[in-house]
Amino acid sequence: MFGGDVHVVWEKFCRYFDVEPRIVPLERGKYTIGPDDVSPHIDENTIGVAAVLGTTFTGHKDDIVGINDLLLQIKSERGLDIPLHVDGASGGFVWPFLYPHSEWDFRLEQVHSINVSGHKFGLVYPGIGWLIFREPSDLNRDLVFEENYLGKTDATFTLNFSTGSSMVLAQYYNFVRYGRAGYTYIMRHMQQNARALAEKLQSMGRFELIGPDEEQLPLVAFRLSGDNDYDEFDIAWQLSAERGWMVPAYTLPPNAQDIKIMRALVKETLSREHVDTLARDIEEACATLEKKGGAHESERRKIMTGPGH
Ligand SMILES: Cc1ncc(COP(=O)(O)O)c(C=O)c1O
Repeated sequence: MFGGDVHVVWEKFCRYFDVEPRIVPLERGKYTIGPDDVSPHIDENTIGVAAVLGTTFTGHKDDIVGINDLLLQIKSERGLDIPLHVDGASGGFVWPFLYPHSEWDFRLEQVHSINVSGHKFGLVYPGIGWLIFREPSDLNRDLVFEENYLGKTDATFTLNFSTGSSMVLAQYYNFVRYGRAGYTYIMRHMQQNARALAEKLQSMGRFELIGPDEEQLPLVAFRLSGDNDYDEFDIAWQLSAERGWMVPAYTLPPNAQDIKIMRALVKETLSREHVDTLARDIEEACATLEKKGGAHESERRKIMTGPGH
């Protein structure tokens, strides 16, 4: 079971592997899940709970500590030992450096597995991802196949067989080259730039920031406040068409699907100077849209179908 704040990969997993998903819907103003959401969905058939560290939608984390406590309580009271998986695709390379005291990992007893994408904040090109188990017994032996085609016995448990090793080397290089101090420096740098952008957006008086005071990925999630003749999708189009920025607008999953938000991901390549330019371009895009009363119908069609349609 998991919240509506998960990435689409979780719904894919359930469909492909014929697992019944129990999905906690989001609500207006509540875009992550906690123990009270999880509790009613647990029963003796629950194979696991997945919690997100750094959601795709707003960059926040589920209440992983609270969910772990709930699972411990269920274990002691009902004898159900339900593993907690943490989807740290985006947050796994951020939290250890920005929020080292915040617990979301194997410090929590029920966390048995963690995935993290190297090609996000691990700072490597796509595609490399990591899946880490708490202990060898967490990986069912039935899923591991042994072969010796390459001259020695290898264990394989991925769906495909041959894959390139260059990204593994690139990830390894970054670990050695940057170390903990380097990753911390880079993450803080991105966080500072995200905060600078957030302040600029706030001071425009047009936007509401989503959870800026909570632990969050280095990004700014925001939406228009008040009544306007244009919406977030119009701004995304205007920014991309006129200035080449890719600041996506999207709707949140059910039951918050009427909420439109935008997300500016602040990566290493977005310098402090770029932040000023982006803020200025957002302000200008809004001013233009205000004058013309929103994006034109034909422009809107391009936003919905993408270029070339
Ligand atoms: C929370 C979360 N989980 C899973 C994924 C999928 O990870 P990957 O693209 O490395 O397959 C993403 C983003 O793509 C994500 O943000």
